[in-house]
Amino acid sequence: MPRLYDSRKRILVTGGAGFLGSHLIDRLLERGHEVLCVDNLFTGTKRNIDHLHGNPRFEFMRHDVCFPLYVEVDEIYNLACPASPVHYQHDPVQTTKTSVHGAINMLGLAKRLRCKILQASTSEVYGDPAVHPQTEDYWGHVNPIGIRSCYDEGKRCAETLFFDYWRQHNIPIKVARIFNTYGPRMHVADGRVVSNFIVQALKGEDITIYGDGTQTRSFCFVDDLVEALIRLMATEESFTGPVNIGNSREFQVRELAQAILDKTGALSQLVFKPLPQDDPLQRRPDISKAREVLQWEPRVALDEGLDKTIDYFRSVSLL
Ligand SMILES: NC(=O)c1ccc[n+]([C@@H]2O[C@H](COP(=O)([O-])OP(=O)(O)OC[C@H]3O[C@@H](n4cnc5c(N)ncnc54)[C@H](O)[C@@H]3O)[C@@H](O)[C@H]2O)c1
Repeated sequence: MPRLYDSRKRILVTGGAGFLGSHLIDRLLERGHEVLCVDNLFTGTKRNIDHLHGNPRFEFMRHDVCFPLYVEVDEIYNLACPASPVHYQHDPVQTTKTSVHGAINMLGLAKRLRCKILQASTSEVYGDPAVHPQTEDYWGHVNPIGIRSCYDEGKRCAETLFFDYWRQHNIPIKVARIFNTYGPRMHVADGRVVSNFIVQALKGEDITIYGDGTQTRSFCFVDDLVEALIRLMATEESFTGPVNIGNSREFQVRELAQAILDKTGALSQLVFKPLPQDDPLQRRPDISKAREVLQWEPRVALDEGLDKTIDYFRSVSLL
């Protein structure tokens, strides 16, 4: 039941010690809320939330979402899940469990508390898309038995669970389909394209491009993403999503590598390797729905976002 005595909410963020979760928590605390961060620290790190420990409105709980959780909160953001291919392929069975059991446990909690719950879903639900750009009504083109399936199908099943809890139990749900997001606090070794290129450039190593580099990606800066998640949570109860959140400006992976070389002044060479299995060649969100319903669009240009991200990687150990 919603609390009556003030507008401050107690908000649960699962996966809160990770890249996106820690930025979301910063923003929620800035807005005066209390935050409970639940994380098993599989890919997240205490360093991402170290600066919050003196804050009386912040609490950290080490917990695996594959197990039930009994806490009292007003809203839930469910972000717990390794997001980069190296991490989610490390223990694929655990990845599927995190998405599926994690969704069941967090939805069960939302059902008991009758509170709103937001799912951090992904553009990977579209697989290697046959439609460009992707709109939310596209059902996707996903390999159910490949090495990425633990993540893609886990996230698809989590979406199914969210919509079944909404239809069957009337739980207020919000589903965000997040496209490539980058920024400070990305994991140094997560192998995602932006962090990979920056780390390789700062170490003076060759920059590895999979394929010929003409494949395109769209990159959303983390501050824009967090703003969209908070706006989505604040939408009226009848709005469930799914809603695409990302930057619709497309760049070739090659162009990104060159921009990073120019900004870091690195003398690294570009080295080309074969594309990994099921790696999509093109992915770009249609964000019309987010524009209309959330009155949102990305504000941070790649140039500015890359500067902030490079500054972050310069400040941390790259070992
Ligand atoms: N970053 C992106 O570009 C992107 C794109 C699409 C979707 N997403 C989704 O957003 C969410 C956050 O992604 P991120 O980039 O911050 O990744 P991340 O790996 O930095 O964060 C995930 C967090 O979840 C935690 N976690 C993993 N398994 C857990 C478990 N079983 N129990 C409790 N905690 C667990 C990790 O320790 C980590 O802190 C994920 O659900 C991801 O699928 C991210």
